[in-house]
Amino acid sequence: MVKTIFSGIQPSGTLTLGNYLGAMRQFVQLQEEHHCYFCIVDQHAITVPQDPKTLKQNIRSLAALYVASGIDPEKATLFIQSEVPAHTELGWMLQSIAYMGELERMTQFKDKSEGRKAVSSALFTYPTLMAADILLYQANIVPVGDDQTQHLELTRDVAERFNKRFGETFVIPEIRIPDVGARIMSLQDPVKKMSKSDENARGYISMLDTPKQMEKKIKSAVTDSEGIVKFDKENKPGVSNLMTIYASCTGESIETMEKNFSNKGYGDFKSAVADAVLETIEPIQNRYNELIDSKELDDILTKGAEKANKVALKTLQKAKKKMGLLR
Ligand code: TYM
Repeated sequence: MVKTIFSGIQPSGTLTLGNYLGAMRQFVQLQEEHHCYFCIVDQHAITVPQDPKTLKQNIRSLAALYVASGIDPEKATLFIQSEVPAHTELGWMLQSIAYMGELERMTQFKDKSEGRKAVSSALFTYPTLMAADILLYQANIVPVGDDQTQHLELTRDVAERFNKRFGETFVIPEIRIPDVGARIMSLQDPVKKMSKSDENARGYISMLDTPKQMEKKIKSAVTDSEGIVKFDKENKPGVSNLMTIYASCTGESIETMEKNFSNKGYGDFKSAVADAVLETIEPIQNRYNELIDSKELDDILTKGAEKANKVALKTLQKAKKKMGLLR
């Protein structure tokens, strides 16, 4: 059955291999069968301080990466969140539905606010904007990496509460997490998630790193002293993470990998991982370079915003009417 899909990525720094394997790759598969909306969530990015010039570049860069990774504007709607004002409007309305206690429990808020001197109120209410993103398109499925699970649960709770209070309005969305690659870990500290906000750039692979940089980062990834290529997340998190990356890039199973590398050392194994990553990313980078300064990209975003605005406005009007906000 054809479903409606919504997902978003923040334009804060360049996309990492984690974002690609955990999220973007699922998007590309889903667009073949379903009604898809993919968003550059710039309003989410401003919940922490951003340099305006860099943010502008990152928004465009992320748009180009979406298309270069295989998002086809004929099949999916790709747009920038701030070009569809209904997101912030419904986001505000949903702030009146969500409870402080619920938002206080969000682990991402706790992680992101920890150690910061000034925490914006938007960082706190961020999950209600995320709920608005999803609910505006009446999405059935939200493909994400596993760090978004709690936000999705909140979205469902808020939608159910709204429907109960004001009558059937929103579809209750389901989360979809990939079997392999839902949580790619840092190359330097493999018990931590790979993140573009990592201070240590050796911990993550950016989709725009040069082949040399990627190779170097993989070769210097933290492993262990055992010298055996075996999947064991608890005791061998570094090796297991590299195996997950290899499996995600090549489609090979963990068992086959364990067999094929059984009498090889970490040096050979890391070279194979580096080759697999380069083979995955290089074609994306080539297409990215064609797109980044093109009018084609602007046209895709303009059309995407037009389509998204139409659908979003319809749901917004419905929700406003239910709440008593329309004459
Ligand atoms: P963001 O921008 O942090 O990440 C984008 C997507 O990438 C996934 N991801 C990972 N997957 C595997 N391994 C990793 N190391 C890794 N790091 C990130 C994330 O799970 C996500 O799917 N709040 C969201 C953006 C958002 C959104 C939405 C998502 C805003 N509105 C509506 C879905 C629906 C975020 O910050 O993702």
